Amino acid sequence: MTSKDVLEEKVNYLLDELTLEEKFKLMVGYFRFQTNTIPRLGIKTFKMTDGPLGIAQHSSFLRKNTYFPAGVNLAASWNRELAKKCGEAIGREARAINRLCVLGPGINIGRTPFNGRTFEYYSEDPYLNKEIAIPFVKGIQSQRVAACPKHYVANNQETNRLIVSSEIDERTLHETYMRSFKEVVEQADPWTIMTSYNRVNSEYVHGSLKLLKSTLFEKWSFNGFVMTDWWATRPRDIEKGEPHQPTTEEAVKAGLTIEMPVPFLYERIELEKAYKEGKITLEDIDELIRRLLRIYFNVGMFEDKRNLPTGERNTKKHQNLARKMAEEGITLIKNKNNLLPLDISKVKRIAVLGPNLKKKFGKFLSGGAAAVAPPYEITPLKGLKEKCKGKVKIVKNPSKADVTLLFMGLNHDSPAKLLSDKVRKEEKIEYGWESETVDRKELGLNSLQVNMIKETVKANPNTIVVLNNANPVSMTGWLNRVPAILLAWYPGMEGGRAIANILFGDVNPSGKIPMTFPKKIKDSPAHKSQKTFPGKNFQVFYEEGIYVGYRYFEKNEIKPLFPFGFGLSYTTFKFNEVMLNKTELKSLDDTLELSISITNTGDRAGSEVVQVYSEDVKSSVDRPVKELVGFEKVFLEKAETKAVNVIVNARDLAFYDIKTSDWKIESGDFILHIGNSLESIYLKRKITYKPG
Ligand code: BGC
Repeated sequence: MTSKDVLEEKVNYLLDELTLEEKFKLMVGYFRFQTNTIPRLGIKTFKMTDGPLGIAQHSSFLRKNTYFPAGVNLAASWNRELAKKCGEAIGREARAINRLCVLGPGINIGRTPFNGRTFEYYSEDPYLNKEIAIPFVKGIQSQRVAACPKHYVANNQETNRLIVSSEIDERTLHETYMRSFKEVVEQADPWTIMTSYNRVNSEYVHGSLKLLKSTLFEKWSFNGFVMTDWWATRPRDIEKGEPHQPTTEEAVKAGLTIEMPVPFLYERIELEKAYKEGKITLEDIDELIRRLLRIYFNVGMFEDKRNLPTGERNTKKHQNLARKMAEEGITLIKNKNNLLPLDISKVKRIAVLGPNLKKKFGKFLSGGAAAVAPPYEITPLKGLKEKCKGKVKIVKNPSKADVTLLFMGLNHDSPAKLLSDKVRKEEKIEYGWESETVDRKELGLNSLQVNMIKETVKANPNTIVVLNNANPVSMTGWLNRVPAILLAWYPGMEGGRAIANILFGDVNPSGKIPMTFPKKIKDSPAHKSQKTFPGKNFQVFYEEGIYVGYRYFEKNEIKPLFPFGFGLSYTTFKFNEVMLNKTELKSLDDTLELSISITNTGDRAGSEVVQVYSEDVKSSVDRPVKELVGFEKVFLEKAETKAVNVIVNARDLAFYDIKTSDWKIESGDFILHIGNSLESIYLKRKITYKPG
């Protein structure tokens, strides 16, 4: 018997012991982050906690926990190994406080730079998205803690999030928005999945036979259980024209196991009624409970605690990992005349200012449900003070310093603060807000910040801007005036140290932007009309189809402010040549290995992200100009040459074919473009897809 058979046997045994009433009890949340217990059978509560940036304070009885860099920062690192380590560490922190499920990763696609939750997610590109999400999920589950990829699916804005319907054509839905979920399910076997608040093509996902049963379960063979987002099932205001919730029967048939955190659809009386009326059967219920019990066994609910991972929290190891992640994610996008790195032996005085200089981001509900409150947080000021102690004087006046550091960005406080009347008006407008429940309104920085940048540069031309935000911002009126810009992407509790290490060159930056920076919002694919964002009559139309992010910019030849995959280093790299282990791919399961020789031609060690994009030379369907299909991050000493291996899976060259409802590659040629951003391509090779 395989271990899978053994598990199924145990599950069925336990299932037989449960009464129908007990099964109903297991289908609803208890308290905010728990489920019900059946003590007579040893079924304990399944405690969950918010992620994905660490263990959230509000779901861990107000505990302080390691605050890791935001998802977008992790994506900017392009480092799968770090994603795995981060998942493992979060799994260990969850274990240490007996949480059996982490509500993350967030793998929705960056459709618009206005989305308030971009910081929790990874990228506009489904390939990068899944490549980070897969090791992250595996990392969490290595600690026998369930991961919960969320929010399935097309949850790409906060405006009207409980009622809006994302109207998406079939191909786009699969190719762009469902792809990461599919790949994560197939390759990382997540134990749970959370449905989204929004509707998709007018249907709530928690009641969708198509999106749950037919796709998630039958097509992708998802083994775990589905839960709703919190209060997603609350009745809607029909009089105000809000849409109907699915019925109890529809949710059961679709495959929703747990309604969180309290019952509406799964009120016992409703379940009993549907059962008595024959609208749901014992088989339907058993299918849902089987999924649940499987995971209860996986997390070791019935095992002796001594045999389970014990976990650890707030250790130096986790804090160092948080710093290392920040150091790899922070991205340098401008560095005129090599102003950076600063030479600590030469710089005498630095001026530091800006609204984010001393601001802490790891606070209760800061940014919404993902907020982690750490035992300490190194702000940029603190990081710089440590670094400069006894060596460089820190002052406030730019005109009296060799260099000025300006800490700007977007606000990330709790949504409640935004709504509160008590908060000073100026504070509300000092930043653009990006948090759960609120979308941004402007692409630019707040005018107060823009003016501050201009004034500071006048006083001191050696001004470096450090932006702390997740979404792209436009830089009209100031980009050309400042010589250097660093993107910090909410770098977590050790962020200040990471920033100081990069500014002074102890760490060579290697982050690459995971989202295209548009020059202006009208250039962005989702922002053509109110209909396309944020929607009209509770519908938002994804008219751009598969042309999200860089796919849109390239197709329409719109020059972005900064292209996808772009990021500078303090050294330079030369892409010498590429060797392929084959030039013909024969099936969707085939793989190709590229060996790319690259040399560090600068005067210090550093890491580079080798990126491979594919171009389908001729296709019967419309295809993007290029699409990311492979990458590898590599560290090179000064003057070192290395051969970097990049694996390209044929499957990633495919498109979603609506005729067959499946992924397809057409016979013919593809060009592989190799470089260090979408726009910096140094090598090209032709390959052929020839099945059979
Ligand atoms: C969020 C989820 C979160 C849940 C529990 C919801 O508001 O959308 O991402 O996991 O709350 O806090």
